[in-house]
This record gives sequence, structure tokens and C-alpha cells, in this order.
Amino acid sequence: MSERAVALVTGAATGIGAACCRRLAAEGLRIAVHYRSSEEKAQKLLAELPDAFGLRADLADSDQVDALVKELKQQAGRVDVLVNNAGYNINGPMLTMNLGQYDAVAGLARGTWYLSKLVLRRFMFRKGSGRIINISSVVGHTGNAGQVPYTMVKAALDAFTKSLSQELAGREILVNSVAPGFIETEMTEELPEDIKQAILARIPQGRMGTPEEVAEVVAFLATCAGYVNGSVIHVNGGMYGG
Ligand SMILES: NC(=O)c1ccc[n+]([C@@H]2O[C@H](COP(=O)([O-])OP(=O)(O)OC[C@H]3O[C@@H](n4cnc5c(N)ncnc54)[C@H](O)[C@@H]3O)[C@@H](O)[C@H]2O)c1
Repeated sequence: MSERAVALVTGAATGIGAACCRRLAAEGLRIAVHYRSSEEKAQKLLAELPDAFGLRADLADSDQVDALVKELKQQAGRVDVLVNNAGYNINGPMLTMNLGQYDAVAGLARGTWYLSKLVLRRFMFRKGSGRIINISSVVGHTGNAGQVPYTMVKAALDAFTKSLSQELAGREILVNSVAPGFIETEMTEELPEDIKQAILARIPQGRMGTPEEVAEVVAFLATCAGYVNGSVIHVNGGMYGG
């Protein structure tokens, strides 16, 4: 059993997840770095973080989620903070999309629900403490053309935050969302230049955010903020205030 508090960050090899790992490690937490396929990037990150360990799983596959939680039990025996950061998007107009593409985006919501359930049951519920932080998105609130399945999943994630926080009422297990606006990561790097310019025009601060600016809000919810529960905190340079 790990003596230090443990944070499990999903989809952690890149972007916002990696920034969350670095920031939570700086706060003194031991980090479980979850990744799906970015083995090399995950190993590089693990080398930076003291006493961290890696966990590989496709969260859309419930057997792999079961195996991940088993491995967590062996490696650390506890989870104090769960950051549900993994996200997946396929851009495209609704009329051209097929069910397989919808399932690829929505499968992760199912996996997030299942992983959270297992982490709660195995590690947080009996102990009566813990923090769950869901990384949703501003587009789950504003909508975004070309992202119908993604925005559905992100809106559902904020509803998950609200319902679960109420279900756990009376226990010191706090559930919140962080909803980033447009952040400089591989996800936004792939956007065509004209779309990027259109996005920048919608951001009052005139720039995209950095993964570190999201991670510092995650760290606040993970280590302070004892009376913030069921909330969605927007981190978007003034685009949308909720
Ligand atoms: N970058 C942005 O502008 C932005 C804005 C709002 C919200 N977000 C959200 O922030 C989170 C992190 O995104 P990012 O920008 O760092 O992008 P990213 O692509 O670097 O990170 C997403 C991670 O999720 C993982 N993932 C996807 N499907 C998975 C699956 N089935 N099983 C396991 N892991 C899976 C990927 O491997 C990847 O590491 C995502 O939830 C994303 O939707 C990002």
C-alpha cells in the first residue's frame, strides 16, 4: 500500500493529461499514468515523475478496465484522485458520419463511467474520501458544428459530475468537472489553419490556453477546494462563463 496519496490520470501520455501528471506530482502525489497506445511518450513522462507507474488500457474495453484496476490495487493499493481526462473526437458533419464513428467517440463515455465505478467501489467509498475530476469541454455547453457525438459525450460528462456528486452526498468524495476551451495540444494542432483562426476570433483573451493552465485548476480541485462539489469550472479565456 502506497503511503503517499495516489492520483490516477487517464489519457495521460500527452497534452492536458501529461500536464496534470506533472502538476499533481509537484503537489506531492504519486501518479498512475494511464495510456492507451502512446507507450514511448508515457515512458518518457514516467521517467520525469518520482515513483510513478504506468497502466495501459483501452478504456472502451471493460475487460481492460477490470485489468487496469487490478493492477492499480497491486501497484498502489489506493486511489485518492481520479482525473478522467481521456477523450476522443472524430470531426465531421452529422450526415456523413456512421454508427462505427459514433461508437468510437461514445465508447469512451461508457469506459469513464465503468472506471469511475470501480475506483469508487474499490478505493474511495469505504475510505470515505476522494476526488474525481472530469475533463469535459466548453463545446459540451456551446455546441460546435462538426462535433455532434463529441459534444454529446462532453455534455453527458458534466451531467455525470452533477449526478454522481449528489449520489455521494454526505461522503467526502467530491466530483467536479473542468471544462477547457481551446487548448494547445495534439488535438487542436490537427485543426486546419482557417478553423484555428476562426476559433481565435471567438476567444476574448485572443489566444489558446496551455495544458498547464488547465492542470493548475485540476490541482486546485484535487488538493484544495474542500467545499467545491458538483461544479463545472470553465477554463477558456473568457469564451463562455457557464
Ligand atoms: N485540447 C483542447 O482544446 C481540449 C478542449 C476541451 C477539452 N479537451 C479534453 O481534454 C482531454 C485531453 O485532451 P488533449 O487535448 O490533451 O488531447 P490528447 O489527444 O493529447 O489526449 C487525449 C488522450 O485520451 C486518450 N484516449 C482516447 N481514447 C481512449 C481510449 N479509448 N482508451 C484510453 N485512452 C484513450 C488518448 O490516447 C490521448 O492520450 C480530452 O478529454 C479532451 O476532450 C481538450
